[in-house]
This record gives sequence, C-alpha cells and structure tokens, in this order.
Amino acid sequence: MKSKRPDEIRKRFTELYSAGRTPALEAVEREAIGAVVGANGYTTLAQAEHLVKVLHLEPGTRLLDIGAGRGWPGLYLAERSGCRAVVTDIPRPAIVAANSRAEARELTGRCHLALAAGAALPFRDASFDAVVHTDAL
Ligand SMILES: C[S@@+](CC[C@H](N)C(=O)[O-])C[C@H]1O[C@@H](n2cnc3c(N)ncnc32)[C@H](O)[C@@H]1O
Repeated sequence: MKSKRPDEIRKRFTELYSAGRTPALEAVEREAIGAVVGANGYTTLAQAEHLVKVLHLEPGTRLLDIGAGRGWPGLYLAERSGCRAVVTDIPRPAIVAANSRAEARELTGRCHLALAAGAALPFRDASFDAVVHTDAL
C-alpha cells in the first residue's frame, strides 16, 4: 500500500475535526467506545481504564498524549487519575476541540494543549513520566 504524504494526512484530519459533531455520531461513539469522549479511533473506555492502571497514573504524574485528536484519551486519563497531561496533535481544529473539552471538564489547571507532530515534539528530554498514543501510527 502506498503511504500517504504528511500534507494529505493533515488535510484529511483537518476536514474531519472541522466537521461538527452530530447526535448520530455521538450515538455511534457511545455504542463503540462506551461513552461520548470525543474519540476518533478505536480505544474503548475499558482500555483507557486499563491505561490508568498500567501507567500508574496519579496526581503529579506527567502524561503526554501524542495524536490525541479532540483529547482522547489524554483528557480522560487526567480526569480519572488526577495526573497532569499535555495533549498534542497536528490539525488546529483538533486542538481547539480538545481545549473546549478541557474547559468544559474544568481540566485547564493541569491539562495543556499543543500543536505538535510526534516527530518534532517541542519538549525537553524527561519532561514526562508516561506517554500514550492511541490509533496514531
Ligand atoms: C485515528 S486518530 C486518533 C485520535 C485519538 N488518539 C483517538 O484515539 O481518538 C489519529 C490521530 O493521529 C494524528 N496524527 C497523525 N500523524 C501524526 C503525527 N506524525 N504526529 C502527531 N499526530 C499525528 C492525526 O492528526 C489524528 O488526530
């Protein structure tokens, strides 16, 4: 299979994240994921719960989520565990949506958003204790 160029990926995901959410989309997400969490992949609520345990997330842990789309699962993991999180993705509409979700869930004190590609992360070495990337290859 021919791989897609980065600008094609950016365009595809920018269009996707720019489209509004609908009740039908949220119903699909509830059925497939187990909750309406702004997901754009296949990671279920149960799998996210598993991540809280295996990554030993707790207050004070610094988590990085790469390719988080609208903030899934990074914002959820922060809400569930009390950890700090930095949520990153490339398309601006994804980060705008993640920021709205963080504000709505009152997470802005310990969750931060950044436009960043996984291959060029703007963070110093050892800035994080745990890293997740779900359905972002
Ligand atoms: C299938 S979505 C998954 C989004 C979210 N993690 C979830 O599970 O709902 C894949 C995401 O990876 C992002 N992505 C693709 N290539 C990336 C890269 N090189 N660096 C950072 N993010 C990337 C896309 O913009 C997209 O938001």
